[in-house]
Parts: sequence; C-alpha cells; structure tokens
Amino acid sequence: METTWTDAVVVARHDATPRIAVLDLARADGGELWEYEAGAHIDVMVGEAGLLRQYSLCGPPGEQRKQYRIAVLNEAASRGGSRAMHALAQGDTLRIAAPRNRFALTPARRYVLLAGGIGITPLLSMARALDAAGHDYELHYCARSRTEAAFAADLESHGRVSFHFDDRAPEQFLDMERDVGGPADGTVLYVCGPGGFMNHVLGRAAELGWPESALHTERFSAEPPTDADPGEAFTVRLASTGAEYHVPEEQSILDVLLAHGVDAPHSCGQGICGSCIVRVLAGEADHRDDVLTEEERAEGQFTLCSSRSKSPILELEL
Ligand code: FES
Repeated sequence: METTWTDAVVVARHDATPRIAVLDLARADGGELWEYEAGAHIDVMVGEAGLLRQYSLCGPPGEQRKQYRIAVLNEAASRGGSRAMHALAQGDTLRIAAPRNRFALTPARRYVLLAGGIGITPLLSMARALDAAGHDYELHYCARSRTEAAFAADLESHGRVSFHFDDRAPEQFLDMERDVGGPADGTVLYVCGPGGFMNHVLGRAAELGWPESALHTERFSAEPPTDADPGEAFTVRLASTGAEYHVPEEQSILDVLLAHGVDAPHSCGQGICGSCIVRVLAGEADHRDDVLTEEERAEGQFTLCSSRSKSPILELEL
C-alpha cells in the first residue's frame, strides 16, 4: 500500500488540556485535503529526525477538505514524537499522509463508544457521524479529571455522553456491567484509549460475554509483550521474487526486508497502524500485532513489523 504525502501547515493551535494540544492542519499549497470517514487517522512526519506518528482525525465534518484537526497528548514516556508535535506553533510545517481507516464504523443497530483519555479523538468523530445519521449510540468518556478531558465542553450537554472521572466519587467510575451490560443483538462496542484502559474494558467485556466480533478497538501505543519470548529465528520467502531472508531472533521481518532494500510498506513499526499488512501464503504465522482481528488473521493477513513465524519458513505475498 503506497502512502501519499503532502506538506501541511499548522493553521491554528490551542491547548485543550494541560497535556493535550489541538492542531488544525491545512495543505501548505492551499489545495483541498482528502476526504475521510469517522475513525480515520493520518501519519504525521515531524521533527528533524522525521519521526512518524499516527493521530486520529477529530475535526468537524464540514471542514474535512479544508483542514484536519488532531489532538496530541504530551506523553511523559515520549520517544520524541509528542514533544516535537507540542513544539509546533501556528505557521510551522510538517508532512502528513492521506488518511487511513482501520477503525471505521460498521453497520449495527446500536453503538457503545468507550473512550479512555486521548482515545476520545476517533470516538468524537464517530459520535458526530452517528448523530448526523440518526443512529442509536452512547459514549462513555473516562479521564483522569474534567481538566484532563479534551473536548469535554463540546460533549457536556450531550444526552448520549456519560463522563467517568478518576478524581470523583467511585460511584461514577465506569462499571462495565452496570453501564454497558452483556451482549445485545446488533450492538457493537468501539473502544479506544491507552493500554491499561483497553485491557480493563476488553477484559470485562469478555467476562460479560461479548463476542470478539462485536468489539472494535484502536490502541494508541503498542503493548509491551507480555512474555519475554523474542521468538525463534526463521526464514522469510517473498513470493514475487522467490528471495529468502534470514530473520534472527532479535530483528523484525520488516527490519530485515528494509535492510536488504526491499520496498516493504510500513509506518508505525509497532503493530498498531496496519500499513505493513501483507498476506501469508505458506507457513504458520505468530501474530503479535494490535491491529488485525481474528477473522483477518484467519484470512492470512499479517503484519511485517511485529509478527513472526512459528514455522521455519514463512512465505509472503510480497
Ligand atoms: S507498520 Fe504499523 S502495523 Fe506494521
């Protein structure tokens, strides 16, 4: 999947919370931007090192072609990307890629949106899209405090939105059993937020009997592997050329292919964006991503940047 880039300029910037900056971006040449659906994100290249980051688009639908809005959390454990983004001011330029969407709304009778912190961004777009289409939904927004909840003022008087703040009474904390309940025909859950929030919500959803097919998720950073097992070395074979490459224990397939000059698609390098998905033609995949569903894995889809092989040889459609 080829990525299309354009130069963009920061046309406005404000601090939505002490840690979250909201940036409005327009094309530097004054042209129109690409259309997108709720749930889409863009790749952003920022800083002298050309750091690549993904941000969900959360602007008002009427302004889609004119400007994109993203919200950037200044992470304490930043590897430089969020710091560089926070340093941007009005008039600064950066590179952005055409939107991609691996978190799109699928047809359903009812939607339950569950946001943790900065995870509100794609779900805010979804809430607007569902409002516009007249669909039935509810949005649960969990944040450390009202001060730390970006876009809270836009949502406060909305009858479909419930807030759950960590610094308030325990009775208003998100209680999955009370607030969401068990699976219901035609209802789907969309969950987005930091790892701890996702694990809690998805764990409780599984305990309450929600099937995986009703759960749609997007993570903002990769979970550190729960086991320390780096996996065995193996060989990867590319179907287009028949070329074979040795993938040692400590390297990813993506790193090996790039080191050999193979033009492999990629972006986040963490198994969360879906840019590097290819198809497995032979061998047994060891999936280690946070982006593919079980169905997609069963169809043979596979991420080059994070997943490995359980078999000595893995053949890829590449
Ligand atoms: S590069 Fe993002 S999932 Fe592999």
